[in-house]
Amino acid sequence: MAHRVRKAVFPVAGLGTRFLPATKAMPKEMLTVVDRPLIQHVVDEAKEAGIEHFIFVTGRNKGVIEDHFDRQFELEQVLAARGKTTELKLLDEDLPGPGSTSFTRQQEPLGLGHAVWCARELVGNEPFALLLPDVLVQTKGKGCLAQMLDVYAEHGGNIIAVEPVPQDQVKLYGVVSIGKGDGRVFPVDGMVEKPKPGTEPSNLTILGRYILQPEIFDILSAQEKGAGGEIQITDAMIALLQRQPFYALKYEGKTFDCGSKIGFLTANVAYALARPDLADAFKEEIRKLI
Ligand code: UTP
Repeated sequence: MAHRVRKAVFPVAGLGTRFLPATKAMPKEMLTVVDRPLIQHVVDEAKEAGIEHFIFVTGRNKGVIEDHFDRQFELEQVLAARGKTTELKLLDEDLPGPGSTSFTRQQEPLGLGHAVWCARELVGNEPFALLLPDVLVQTKGKGCLAQMLDVYAEHGGNIIAVEPVPQDQVKLYGVVSIGKGDGRVFPVDGMVEKPKPGTEPSNLTILGRYILQPEIFDILSAQEKGAGGEIQITDAMIALLQRQPFYALKYEGKTFDCGSKIGFLTANVAYALARPDLADAFKEEIRKLI
């Protein structure tokens, strides 16, 4: 039986250059979609999937992320004194349990693979989930990671969530090559980062949710640089694919790449329209604008 996945890694040490000047002093991961920071949305997804320990790989200027997952005594006292019980309850529900978070530093943003490697001691010798906080997946039922854990319970190995994109956009992403599957879950037989047009093995792109076995850390420890001079997680997965099974899951839901301005703005619209307390009034305002 596959080992249970208890821990999730959230790499939050990047510079967020596509969002300057917003990200000059504020972490990209704290940008809000409606009224929750991106990192909170993604932690919610992990919590819903049953993750018990939340590991953040932070860097300079990211201290506010640690504060966000802590109590704010003065604020709570003021809310209590003013009888704002709904707000207090909300803050309480979002608070991770004592001892269920860990923070480590990536001193230099050398790439996603390097950020993941920085979490090796905290993860230890067990499978873990990896969630990119600037990618939101909106679902009607189970969250994306919960869907992946169902597949993991059945197949074990390593799982990557994938999404079909239009053919002319495939060159922008990591892409998988797949064997015969059941329409939803496919064995992966190859991966390529940003394929040259005409060489794409499929239009299924790697979107930012992974379940990985700890052997990935041995491969990452070689610190080999790939595309853009960065240590890439896709390169390490390609090496691990020689030794271990990987499965691609075409999850149910819609992805927003909130690291890009259009993705972020669209996510705000989609998440606001899904909120019963905001949808009607928001639709009205949008109608007036367009
Ligand atoms: P991105 O490449 O989308 O983030 O990485 P970035 O580098 O911060 O953004 P741009 O491209 O300059 O605008 C996806 C996630 O991985 C983290 C980022 O913080 C982001 O949440 N990351 C990336 C790290 O933690 N360390 C790195 O070296 C690179």
